Amino acid sequence: MSSSALVGIDIGTTSAKGIAIDPASGRVLATAESSYPVSSPQAGWMEQHPDAWVTATGDVLSSLKADVKEILGIGFSGQMHGLVCLDAVGEVIRPAILWNDQRSAPQCAALESGGGRDRLVKLTGNRALPGFTAPKLLWMREREPAAYARIRQISLPKDYVRDRLTGGHRSDVADASGTLLLDVAHRSWSTELLADLNFSRSWLPDLAESCDAVGMFEGVPVAAGAGDQAAAAVGAGITGPGPLSLVLGTSGVVLAATDRFLADGEGRVHAFCHAAPDRWLVMGVMLAAAGSLAWFHDTLLPGVDYDVMLAEAENASPGCDGLIFLPYLAGERTPHFDPDVRGAFCGLTLTHGRGHLIRAVLEGVAFALRDCLDTVRDVGATADRARVSGGGSRSRLWLRTVASVLELPLEVMATDQGSAFGAALLGGVASGVYSDLDQAAGTCVRVTDVIDPVSAWIEPYREIRLRFRDSYPALRSLSRRGTDPV
Ligand code: XUL
Repeated sequence: MSSSALVGIDIGTTSAKGIAIDPASGRVLATAESSYPVSSPQAGWMEQHPDAWVTATGDVLSSLKADVKEILGIGFSGQMHGLVCLDAVGEVIRPAILWNDQRSAPQCAALESGGGRDRLVKLTGNRALPGFTAPKLLWMREREPAAYARIRQISLPKDYVRDRLTGGHRSDVADASGTLLLDVAHRSWSTELLADLNFSRSWLPDLAESCDAVGMFEGVPVAAGAGDQAAAAVGAGITGPGPLSLVLGTSGVVLAATDRFLADGEGRVHAFCHAAPDRWLVMGVMLAAAGSLAWFHDTLLPGVDYDVMLAEAENASPGCDGLIFLPYLAGERTPHFDPDVRGAFCGLTLTHGRGHLIRAVLEGVAFALRDCLDTVRDVGATADRARVSGGGSRSRLWLRTVASVLELPLEVMATDQGSAFGAALLGGVASGVYSDLDQAAGTCVRVTDVIDPVSAWIEPYREIRLRFRDSYPALRSLSRRGTDPV
């Protein structure tokens, strides 16, 4: 059995993932995972029962406890934006509405009308997206008034789990940034916006910085934690300006850490607090990154090993002989903010085979990530390299494609469990093992490989990217809402 450990737990969209690391080196001592289902009761709706997260977390913690002698500190990260509503006795009122749920598009449109968007960007740094928490509350007020009337507290996913372990009602400013209720520049709830929307302050958790200890679990200090993107950045050693964080998870993210609050006047990127005190994030999010590949795999090649599937893609040439994939399977956020747009393959011919289709998916995601990168740069963030994490970063072909499209070297980290790893580092600061996040990252984070752009691919990808960009307006007018939830 290994010795003392720091534990990080990520409440993901499909599973809770846990990691135990050696605090002296960051070496991974043990990992554990426990899955849960996502339910989609209507097209565009995504729900999960919060109890499933708690059960899965219990399983993960038991498994990690069996593998290490002693846990020194625990940190949480999790899927952001999800709405958990609790009644007067702390019971969950309805299944959580998740980050990738699109039902509140009409409420967002109403919020942004008549100068609303400018006011939101001014007060929160962000515009109203259906994924964010506040529009979901507005949806509940309109569509489920009886359930809405019972609300006494709201929580974000990982906060609900952590509060169940430690007691209290807390959140951290990094995760709270995605509620659309936080004054991100000042790291506090926006009293003006709460008044505008007529939401009660008493529903909201008390705020902490991500590294703050907010309670104990079985005698072990527990950090407030962070939303998964901020935690992944910490897990990649991005605690301030420097390399970008690039996440190839279910969603795809390009994130820059900054030492001052930066927001886009039009709200095209998310402006969030970072998990490091006095640091902020500028972040572009595309909704279906590894999610697009998983959709392709599960729909067309179920049971086939991912390595086998990706080997087929190697046989297609870059650019896929004119085939382009538009990865808008779940609508899109950056830079289009369009919940209604739908995905497509464009340019199919009789000569295209399965390998082309698979490679086109990898390339289409890379082009969408480039859109995110360009928008993050527009806002003023700079970087000359990116650090990758997320399940998609296991594919060498995908990394070479992304590096060539972004025209940036990609640094591969010793662990691809970015968010859980970052959460463990937060737990390390909260428990006093490290004095701050820079010391934690300096001790534990290691780059193991660098993937450079493939020079022969850069020019062809520049040209195809123009076609990719031109496809969106055409696709937008063709896309229809699947089933209108109204
Ligand atoms: C961030 C976001 C996703 C979710 C799920 O804004 O929506 O990262 O947190 O991973």
